[in-house]
Amino acid sequence: METTLPLRHTRLTRLAHMGLALGVIVQLLTSLVFVPDAPGETANIYFEIHEYSGLASFGFALLFWLVVMSRKSGTTIGELFPWFSKSRLSTLWSDIRGSLGAIKQMKLPHIDETSAIAHAIHGLGLLLILTMALTGTVYYFINNGDPDAGGLVGVVMFFHMGLANVVWAYLIGHAGIALIHHVTSQLSLREMWSLKQQG
Ligand code: HEM
Ligand code: HEM
Repeated sequence: METTLPLRHTRLTRLAHMGLALGVIVQLLTSLVFVPDAPGETANIYFEIHEYSGLASFGFALLFWLVVMSRKSGTTIGELFPWFSKSRLSTLWSDIRGSLGAIKQMKLPHIDETSAIAHAIHGLGLLLILTMALTGTVYYFINNGDPDAGGLVGVVMFFHMGLANVVWAYLIGHAGIALIHHVTSQLSLREMWSLKQQG
């Protein structure tokens, strides 16, 4: 059986990922049941959980960005954001073509630590979650209790509500693919979801 190299991601990367992923899952679940503050009404407990764990997620999102920008090993910034390099873009396109070819033959595309598609999607995921956490946090500081108020509240909520379904899609797609690759043993979930010290 193939074993992935243990601890391919630095410990801080794994810590930031764990905190952010758990935070986002709490955000999405609470968003299904919360009733947001309305002027004159008491805050709903699920909304409070959404707000405070959302602020924590903002912290984890910042930590993730800092780690990505400063770490000595792991995925590089260029791999996560290939959009500005001709050679990285052409690697990405050939990776996409290869994956489509595999899917056409009803095969699982090969994904490993060199996968340009996986890295590019992870980079977009980081941007997406930063936008959600940032808009939510700005709302926290400027709101007057009404998410439907206009002005800057309207602008940040426009992005927050508009991107909400993309976060569902990202979580389901990303976690689903991670699970498929865990089961088919190309990549192990245990590696990303452990806080073991680097050996
Ligand atoms: C919305 C929440 C999540 C976000 C924003 C997120 C984001 C990311 C990012 C940015 C990476 C790349 C890290 C790097 O290159 O250093 C990554 C890798 C990974 N994520 Fe997530 N993740 C989330 C949820 C999850 C969940 C729920 C699972 C498990 C079911 C998961 C499993 C993994 C695995 C296994 C990897 C490593 C892939 C590899 O080895 O290349 N993630 N995630
Ligand atoms: C990563 C962080 C976050 C994620 C993934 C997230 C996700 C969501 C989702 C899925 C919704 C529901 C949208 C809909 O019903 O269409 C929502 C709504 C909302 N969130 Fe967040 N959220 C985050 C952080 C925050 C933070 C930090 C705050 C404020 C402290 C906040 C405040 C709100 C408000 C006010 C609404 C709108 C409620 C409404 O009018 O229905 N969120 N968020």
